[in-house]
Amino acid sequence: MSNPHADPSVLVIFGASGDLTRHKLLPAIYNLAEEGHLPEAFAILGVARPKIDEAEYRAQMRAQVRAIEGEPLDADKWKRIEDRLYYVSGEFNDPALYDRLKEKLDEIRARHHTPPNYLFYFAVPPDLFGTVANQLAQSGLTKEDEGWRRVIVEKPFGYDVESARALNAELRKGLHESQIYRIDHYLGKETVQNILAFRFANGIFEPTWNRRYVDHVQMTVAEEAGVEHRGAYYDKAGALRDIVQNHMFQVMTLVGMEPPISFRAEDVRDEKVKVLHAVAPLTASDVTQHVVRAQYAGYTKEPNIAPGSRTETFVAMRLFIDNWRWAGIPFYLRTGKRLPKRMTEVAVQFNCPPLLLFRETSVRALGPNVLIIRIQPDEGISLSFEAKVPGPFVRLKTVTMDFSYAEYFKTEPTTGYETLLFDAMAGDQTLFHRMDIVEAGWQVVQPILDAWKADTTSPIPTYETGTWGPTEADMLMTRDGRAWRD
Ligand code: BG6
Repeated sequence: MSNPHADPSVLVIFGASGDLTRHKLLPAIYNLAEEGHLPEAFAILGVARPKIDEAEYRAQMRAQVRAIEGEPLDADKWKRIEDRLYYVSGEFNDPALYDRLKEKLDEIRARHHTPPNYLFYFAVPPDLFGTVANQLAQSGLTKEDEGWRRVIVEKPFGYDVESARALNAELRKGLHESQIYRIDHYLGKETVQNILAFRFANGIFEPTWNRRYVDHVQMTVAEEAGVEHRGAYYDKAGALRDIVQNHMFQVMTLVGMEPPISFRAEDVRDEKVKVLHAVAPLTASDVTQHVVRAQYAGYTKEPNIAPGSRTETFVAMRLFIDNWRWAGIPFYLRTGKRLPKRMTEVAVQFNCPPLLLFRETSVRALGPNVLIIRIQPDEGISLSFEAKVPGPFVRLKTVTMDFSYAEYFKTEPTTGYETLLFDAMAGDQTLFHRMDIVEAGWQVVQPILDAWKADTTSPIPTYETGTWGPTEADMLMTRDGRAWRD
């Protein structure tokens, strides 16, 4: 099979002056250009409210990408992008904007000899997803009479099961499922995709990847930063919706899934959704005992946070995947803002050997083997094992075998958006959420959302910034005789 290629197309970004475009999308386009992965007949059309002209938009974006790259831009590469970067301003609910868009698209296509393939990126607040989709459909821009029309929808896809279904119904009015690319930038991260390669391109791990050999799995998505200037969005979302329901569940499905029958999009997604369907539903008492929420001290003083807000900035929980492979093996998940460091990792802890054979020696206990998949930063994989300390006596020490992406492949970490933009242009939906996956994720967290909504009085634990969350999160593990790896 030949390598996939991105089709010649126009990327139309709604929300072209926002943070996502500045911090992630345009830097990702620049990185794709640097790697030579952009098609020749490619162009970008930014759509946003600010009434600025194209020259100013280009200058602003150049400064932004330069700032994110942290080094001077390659003049030729940037020029290639700038020559293909256009801008239209308007209100997203105004049909006239979409008439202007059509004219502009015709103009761009004529200039760059681009076929009518349009990739619409919804980098707008979630309450506008439906509006933009409807306007596009009404203006005829989603019809695939000639060329393809695809839509990338940013997260959050809904706020719970019901709203996710409603949003989907809204999108489906003018779009077929095959045109909808629900994005989760975690799936674009090399280290996340590598979980599949690690599991299914190696013979030695898969036989032990189950309840017979694994004691538990723990996953951490820790951020040092707080909510910063995203308070208005975050205060309505919270850590459970912002990170767990999407990013963490995606990583969990890759760790927990059965081998797919092929790497085709539907086969991979079929296996992933089964993991979420197999998660044991949480009862109200499970939520009380095995789910911890907390807020960092000072959160309510952050900009745009409601006074007395009960939104969680930290969640930890214990889940079980009730299937043949994982029955009885806990998956512990935790995420939070204002923790000691930025760190995302999955640790698969194996059972200890059944017997301590070193009785006549100073060895009193054996440490478990732990396989750690470091998703960021310091991307890599390590496996800890016991080794004999040199010398005449039997003494053991835990040592590690370590693989580092940066050292081995000499690559710079990317934003995750490069792969996903490329895949959307190539028509590959493997790394995007299918609707049943989104729904299954919401179904897992819905009992937690319900329980928290019903409980408006119990105090929410707080934690000092720069710590690993509240003691309740540690107790979640210590009660089971286990501990978080910090
Ligand atoms: C986003 C969340 O999806 O992911 C943010 O909305 C979070 O709150 C971010 O900070 C983390 O992404 P990354 O790639 O920095 O781990």
